[in-house]
Amino acid sequence: MPNKIWRVVELLDWTSGYFEQHSIPTPRLDAEVLLGHLLNKSRLQLYLDFDMPVFQEHLTPFRKLIERRIERTPVSYLTNRKEFLSLDFYVDERVLIPRPETEQLVETILATKTDTPQRVLEIGTGSGVIATSLAVHASAWDIVATDISEPALEVAQQNAETHTCTAQITFMSGDLFEPIKTIENSKDRHFDWIVCNPPYIKNGERESLSPDVRDYEPEIALFAGDDGFAVIRRLITEAPQYLAPNGKLLFEIGDTQADPVRTFINAEPAYCTHEFITDYAEKDRLALASVSSEHVPV
Ligand SMILES: C[S@@+](CC[C@H](N)C(=O)[O-])C[C@H]1O[C@@H](n2cnc3c(N)ncnc32)[C@H](O)[C@@H]1O
Repeated sequence: MPNKIWRVVELLDWTSGYFEQHSIPTPRLDAEVLLGHLLNKSRLQLYLDFDMPVFQEHLTPFRKLIERRIERTPVSYLTNRKEFLSLDFYVDERVLIPRPETEQLVETILATKTDTPQRVLEIGTGSGVIATSLAVHASAWDIVATDISEPALEVAQQNAETHTCTAQITFMSGDLFEPIKTIENSKDRHFDWIVCNPPYIKNGERESLSPDVRDYEPEIALFAGDDGFAVIRRLITEAPQYLAPNGKLLFEIGDTQADPVRTFINAEPAYCTHEFITDYAEKDRLALASVSSEHVPV
């Protein structure tokens, strides 16, 4: 970046051109988000202040952000922010960056909301976006959120604190349902909803991922064995033990995984119905399996 007095508009033009040369997929957007982050302005405010000069105190850190973006550090790890269902979440390299598709998972549950408070178990909470947004939108619900990654749970707890819902969410650390087994009161081990956005990428697909994902996001949040089903298969098999009568298991799947997932669900007699919910591109992206009113959890 040449030495001169820069105005906002010039900085954005120069940076997006530089990002484009380095094959950054969304060059203009990234330039705006990073400069807005540094100047503490929304993208709209940046446009209103197009002619504002940007001085050295901001140019030096902005250069560093540009360098890190060229190395393919994801924008959300540079700003430590990600919006999810219009709520602001802290993220860093300890957690997966929440994807917009996952909002549909929360919306599907909230669409069923009645006056009866629900008990929800979220497996693999990561940054805590699912558990926290459920807590924010359903303040009478009781939520348990687990993760195998202790560093991820620290981020989830921080986000729950920011949104003042720590009293509603119990965070537990461990592999899938292991932490639930330690809950003393057997009634508290049963849930109306078990929800999960599991890792579901095949180990062999690593090289085909974008470097932003492959080189920065936690492996444990992405990969699930040679066939991509290492977590999903166990989730389907083990969840009925923790589902209350009429309980539902809802989880995200990869866009080509519906057929094998249907086979796994059909092989588990505890489920009485199941369906797939499509995303905006008409791909099956959520699996929903339910147990009956006569279901007896362990
Ligand atoms: C795809 S990320 C989802 C994170 C967050 N729920 C979201 O939707 O953005 C999967 C999460 O599952 C956790 N995880 C992976 N394997 C697990 C296991 N066996 N038991 C519990 N959590 C696991 C990872 O640490 C990661 O936080």
